[in-house]
Amino acid sequence: MASNEALPLRFYGDPVLRRKAEAVPAVTDEVRALIESMFATMYTEEGVGLAAPQVGRSLRVFVVDVEDEDNPRVKQAFVNPTIVERSGEVVGEEGCLSIPGIRADVKRYARVVVEALDADGKPFRQEAEGLLARALQHENDHLDGILFLDRLGPITRRLLEAKWKRVRPDEAASSASRSPARGDTPDSATSR
Ligand code: NI
Repeated sequence: MASNEALPLRFYGDPVLRRKAEAVPAVTDEVRALIESMFATMYTEEGVGLAAPQVGRSLRVFVVDVEDEDNPRVKQAFVNPTIVERSGEVVGEEGCLSIPGIRADVKRYARVVVEALDADGKPFRQEAEGLLARALQHENDHLDGILFLDRLGPITRRLLEAKWKRVRPDEAASSASRSPARGDTPDSATSR
């Protein structure tokens, strides 16, 4: 796979987004190329996070590039991540690059600590609050086939599902598509 090439996004309705992704056995050059392509895709789509299933790869990998007022910028790939600490709770707006045009308030832990491997296969530990904490939980959910819609109450969810069917009838009816996506993000103008 050529690196730095943006990949087509998978959209809500595509079964790959519902699969539990598999652990990466070793951080090889192929995995690094996937990571580079995921960053390229995320920047093309103006998101702040992207998980491998969103580009059709059912692997436990996600990338983020997040900065907010209270925290330094974190641009990082997470391979085989585990959330090892969770505390507090906070409600904030989220979107998803795989569900463009749909946004909602989602309750998340206010602070998390994630352990993962980086793109060199080295273990690291990331403490996060604010937007980064939200992004890490959102992306980690993708690896378990969970979408932010699943975190909403039934009424809100039903309304948003109906909206999705109106704005994206093709994806709602079937699956994979290669339409360009925009929209997404918490608290700003970007997305995951
Ligand atoms: Ni997402």
